[in-house]
Amino acid sequence: MAAHRKSQDHGRPHRSLGALATSALLIFTSTAAGYNLDTSDTDSIKSVASSMAKDMLSFYNGNKPGGTPGLLPTPYYWWEAGAMLGSLVDYWYYTGDSQYNDLTSQGLLFQVGPYNDYMPPNQTLTEGNDDQGFWGLSVMTAAEYKFPNPPSGKPGWLALAQAVFNTQAARWEDADCAGGLRWQIFNWNNGFDYKNSISQACFFNLAARLLLYTGNATYGEWAVKTWDWMEHVKFIDENYYIYDGAHIESGCTDITPYQWTYNAGAFLLGAAAMYNYSALQNDANTEAMWKERVDGMLNGTAVFFTTNDRNIMTEVACEPVNLCDLDQQSFKAYLSRWMAATTKWAPWTSTTIMPLLNASAIAAAKQCTGGDNGQMCGLKWTTNGKWDGSTGVGQQMAAMEVTLANMITSVTAPVTNSTGGTSEGNPNAGGTDIGRTSPESTLKPIHTGDRVGAGILTALILAGVIAGVIYMFIDETVDATPKERFDGFVAAVNKNGKRLAKRNFGRDDEYGDGLGGMSEKGKQPRVQSFRVLDRSDSDRNSGSVSAGPEGFFAADRQRSGNSSENPFSSPADPEKATAAGAAEQPAHHSFFSPAHFRQQSTGINESSAEVGIAQQAHMSDPGRTTVIQYPPAAAPFPSNNAKGGAAAPAELNSEATQVPFQPTRSKKRNYIKRKLLHPKQ
Ligand SMILES: *[C@@H]1O[C@H](CO)[C@@H](O)[C@H](O)[C@H]1NC(C)=O
Ligand SMILES: *[C@@H]1O[C@H](CO)[C@@H](O)[C@H](O)[C@H]1NC(C)=O
Ligand SMILES: *[C@@H]1O[C@H](CO)[C@@H](O)[C@H](O)[C@H]1NC(C)=O
Ligand SMILES: *[C@@H]1O[C@H](CO)[C@@H](O)[C@H](O)[C@H]1NC(C)=O
Ligand SMILES: *[C@@H]1O[C@H](CO)[C@@H](O)[C@H](O)[C@H]1NC(C)=O
Ligand SMILES: *[C@@H]1O[C@H](CO)[C@@H](O)[C@H](O)[C@H]1NC(C)=O
Repeated sequence: MAAHRKSQDHGRPHRSLGALATSALLIFTSTAAGYNLDTSDTDSIKSVASSMAKDMLSFYNGNKPGGTPGLLPTPYYWWEAGAMLGSLVDYWYYTGDSQYNDLTSQGLLFQVGPYNDYMPPNQTLTEGNDDQGFWGLSVMTAAEYKFPNPPSGKPGWLALAQAVFNTQAARWEDADCAGGLRWQIFNWNNGFDYKNSISQACFFNLAARLLLYTGNATYGEWAVKTWDWMEHVKFIDENYYIYDGAHIESGCTDITPYQWTYNAGAFLLGAAAMYNYSALQNDANTEAMWKERVDGMLNGTAVFFTTNDRNIMTEVACEPVNLCDLDQQSFKAYLSRWMAATTKWAPWTSTTIMPLLNASAIAAAKQCTGGDNGQMCGLKWTTNGKWDGSTGVGQQMAAMEVTLANMITSVTAPVTNSTGGTSEGNPNAGGTDIGRTSPESTLKPIHTGDRVGAGILTALILAGVIAGVIYMFIDETVDATPKERFDGFVAAVNKNGKRLAKRNFGRDDEYGDGLGGMSEKGKQPRVQSFRVLDRSDSDRNSGSVSAGPEGFFAADRQRSGNSSENPFSSPADPEKATAAGAAEQPAHHSFFSPAHFRQQSTGINESSAEVGIAQQAHMSDPGRTTVIQYPPAAAPFPSNNAKGGAAAPAELNSEATQVPFQPTRSKKRNYIKRKLLHPKQ
């Protein structure tokens, strides 16, 4: 999501050792068995969801004195608060419990920014299109579910969603990769040279839903254009698998092969909206096309359902290897939420979707036995009721959304403007933020008078500097003429400049230091040239703490010597691994079912993903699936997992662990700026 996510690199929110010890005690001394969710009983769903919501909000201070509405504390990024507020809109929609409505409205309205488009100046250091997109989707939901309208004088939910759409449509860029949105909004942020699926996914989803809500065909044209482009660059392949994204310098061919639940969910629901709209228009061909796409996307989601019955949702790219970062810990919330919503607009999908949501919800609820209160939810739902030791907003949100989703047949369908929707729109919303790629100065507008004044001031300062320099060179106490000293000064500047240039762009740039990172705008060296790399998948911090490809290669070499220790060369069907083989799995793989994919799936077609990812093919798991997990050797942060689920065994990890954490200078500076801007975080 956001480009500069320094603070989260150390992992999940830390709970104190004392708290961990207490919760460990709770596990062993109490008979807590997690929630016993009865998905056929709406009272059971409501009561479980109510506890989960309360526990989710234990992380939120935006409604407390001194808190900022719509912000989660560090290390959470801004977007996740928007996503969380969206989950509270869902909470109200399903349960009718309005106790959080004020908190929700307040947060959603506080973060709109000066142009009512979710581009608040405080977030310009981190905000990408996907970050903005998540806020846009939350207010779109508010319009569709008839969440209480904002007070008069405030923009309507629909107008806010339209502003997000308008600002993003203006950023569509044909010059690179023949289309698409860049990940980042602002040209100074890392990731401005990356086009990622989740940015397109949010835009597509929003456009399709705006089309259905308003009937304005322009939104539909953008939705179609976005889908077509995704297929064109093969971010969506012929199996309807969605990959993370690619860099523009490769023409979007260096595809990062990770698959995330939220991409699948966002395209699934958007396709369902397109289907529903086409059906309303009695446009049989278009309707059939979108129906096929809904089916295809739904088929594609199969990769995220694991265990023996292949029915429990899993963040397969990172969860089985204990590498889900803070953002990723929330993704299952969105696939859950959007799968459920899909059954409203594309009703035939219900028979496929509901059993998955049923099994996932029961499993999710069962493992919520953690934390100080003995009912916090972990990330993993495949543990047969065992809490995995992690807690967080994402874990709570995902468990709550999948629980609520089981009530979808009991709630009314989303509205449109012609079926009772009352949200106030503004097709031209977005103001002067439309088309902006560099942030507006937060200073007041410059008038001619100011300019003249500034000119005089500049001249005065310059004169002062020159005087100072001259004074320096005529310093009487040093035994050299001013001319000699000036020449020495020039030589020194020259030399340091060259050294700096070499460090920034040279191949010997071991850690991709800060200025190397800054050079990223449009000409970031290929990630392969770094040992510590730009993660290149858009949910990881560019340049964050992680081993680079050389680390991967090195670890691969090490692992290949002993295949039984290599989690990536486990038998084709890990469930059928021999007992001996299983015993040799790294410890952290032993307490949950390994990811298990459909082998007969129509379409595991290596060639689909091979374009541009050949050099990363060593990361895949040959013979099983094209789903690619984060390699454990690249463990960017130690897990806080109470079960001792450290990132990877040391011997597999030696290369990676030797690489010191080397924050880039630009990031350090941005982090400091961020701190200055958000002293309370
Ligand atoms: C989805 O999967 C079903 C069952 O395997 C198959 O019949 C159908 O053709 C697939 N649809 C698409 C669009 O891939
Ligand atoms: C479109 O969505 C509405 C609202 O959920 C639903 O009632 C209708 O059946 C859907 N249309 C089609 C063709 O499935
Ligand atoms: C949900 O799963 C449970 C446990 O497998 C099962 O007993 C129940 O019948 C399922 N409910 C639905 C509606 O499928
Ligand atoms: C929405 O519906 C209202 C009344 O039902 C109508 O006045 C308004 O023009 C509609 N807006 C759009 C964008 O269609
Ligand atoms: C339809 O949406 C487009 C794009 O936002 C906008 O320019 C246009 O004014 C809208 N048309 C109507 C009738 O609202
Ligand atoms: C922006 O930051 C300032 C300073 O911390 C704070 O007072 C303000 O509430 C923030 N605004 C938003 C929209 O978060």
